[in-house]
Amino acid sequence: MNILLTGGAGYIGSHAAVVLCAAGHNVVILDNFCNSQHSVLDRLTKIVGKPMPCIEGDIRDTLLLEKVLKDYKIETVMHFAGLKAVGESVQNPLDYFDNNVGGTISLLHAMRSNNVKSMVFSSSATVYGMPNYLPLDEAHPTQAKNPYGRSKLHIEEILTDLAASDPAWHISFLRYFNPVGAHESGLIGEDPNGIPNNLVPYIAQVALGRLPHLNVYGDDYPTADGSGVRDYIHVMDLAEGHLAALNYIQQQPGVCVFNLGSGKGSSVFEVVKVFENENASSIPLKVTMRRIGDVSECYAKVDKANIHLNWKATRTLQDMCRSTWNFQKNHKCANQ
Ligand code: NAD
Ligand code: UD1
Repeated sequence: MNILLTGGAGYIGSHAAVVLCAAGHNVVILDNFCNSQHSVLDRLTKIVGKPMPCIEGDIRDTLLLEKVLKDYKIETVMHFAGLKAVGESVQNPLDYFDNNVGGTISLLHAMRSNNVKSMVFSSSATVYGMPNYLPLDEAHPTQAKNPYGRSKLHIEEILTDLAASDPAWHISFLRYFNPVGAHESGLIGEDPNGIPNNLVPYIAQVALGRLPHLNVYGDDYPTADGSGVRDYIHVMDLAEGHLAALNYIQQQPGVCVFNLGSGKGSSVFEVVKVFENENASSIPLKVTMRRIGDVSECYAKVDKANIHLNWKATRTLQDMCRSTWNFQKNHKCANQ
């Protein structure tokens, strides 16, 4: 199939591009590079063995999207493009609604006028808010707690209304838990600008010596070791989940929603220990106050994706930590 990846130069989109190409699909990337680097395209070429068409542009540019959909005879869209920093969304909610919600509406207009009515959308476990029960299944009430999360929920609602209005739409929301790790080549991975917000990228920066220590945000949660528990999923498993969802929606009109996680919770201290063991490094720690807005535990029930998508995460936390470090070391050298 001819597939447009909005935000395909980013962390998750670039890994999905590799998996989709390997499955024989024609991938076209559209990205405005607000949170990615042009060099990712050369690195993708090295991995897949041929250049991937990439259009530099913004999803809010409906006319450009219409042209791209037409020129490349796009049949389906994987919609990764979006802003994703929770703290920033609290500071600049309008930017988040404009980019994420406005951008999606623009994309949907262009898709509708080109009769492209199939989409896999990058949603987030953040739409569940504070868990009422664990593991979180897809029927758990949604109650996002910040503008970023609300932008994802608004998009889910818009897509649901759209599919209800026209049975020709085939849409899947994938609610990601905590994607970490990198492609085994070490050529692509997560490389956030500035100081990372998320745990594993932060640990990697400490291991590189760029940050002095990891702040552990609280060791007094009601968890086995007192630190926060999350469901970490290898980005290559996540990418494979997109291929499975793409196959599934071909036969499935309407909207379907899937959690993509490992189904297993790991604490901050466990992640640090595994990272240290896998990479023979030492991560200095300082226990600090809890981070505002953090939940104690969050992990997925993944049965629905297992059954309907015939997909399941197979890579371990060890794999995630090893591949993160492999990418970081390579990338550090490449940037020197
Ligand atoms: P990322 O920032 O690495 O990738 C997003 C890409 O979209 C970037 O390359 C950015 O330049 C591009 N982009 C942003 N706004 C755009 C616009 N208006 N027009 C064109 N391109 C635009 O993020 P990621 O981690 O790869 O996340 C991909 C998607 O998955 C996002 O929608 C994010 O909200 C969602 N998600 C990510 C996580 C995570 O932990 N990484 C978790 C849950 C959901
Ligand atoms: C964060 C976002 C969430 C987003 C998710 C995946 C917030 C409040 N939530 O969630 O919306 O969907 O990332 O991108 O930002 N931790 C530390 N020290 C650190 C960083 C994190 O101890 O420097 C702890 C956290 O308290 C948490 C765990 O590590 O217990 C994981 O944190 P993180 O990687 O930020 O993911 P989430 O908290 O799940």
